[in-house]
Amino acid sequence: MKLLIINGPNLNLLGSREPNIYGSTGFDTYLEMLQGSYKSMVELVYFQSNVEGEIINKLHETNDKNKPKFDGIILNAGAYTHTSIAIADAIAAIETKVVEVHVSNVFAREEFRHVSFMSKNCVGSIIGFGLRSYDLAIDYFLK
Ligand code: DQA
Repeated sequence: MKLLIINGPNLNLLGSREPNIYGSTGFDTYLEMLQGSYKSMVELVYFQSNVEGEIINKLHETNDKNKPKFDGIILNAGAYTHTSIAIADAIAAIETKVVEVHVSNVFAREEFRHVSFMSKNCVGSIIGFGLRSYDLAIDYFLK
């Protein structure tokens, strides 16, 4: 199985960014751990961008018959979750299933984080389990 993890803006700063909310592990370190635990079962491809259009292009690529195919996408769109109709439309436009993840419990935070334009177009959302949210999303695709 091959899964694509897409992280949006500021998630390149995981580990140093507001550690009281997001923890102190960087995503690269976490990804190595994930790759280790799922080695025989899942190939994980990672993409991070702070640019909305690049995230949309990456989602579109998964529909391109000349580009690699994935069995699923795990998307943490960061703050674009709460603002981007364009990313939501891109999720709706592609064939590959998307699971929305968030490290923090967005419902325990500011009200503007309670809205997700992504959720409606995703198979489900995994929210608030720290970096384990990504593990849980992988488990969904595996089972
Ligand atoms: C986040 C939650 C968003 O509200 C925030 O803007 C982020 C990270 C999370 O993973 O908890 O950048 O998506």
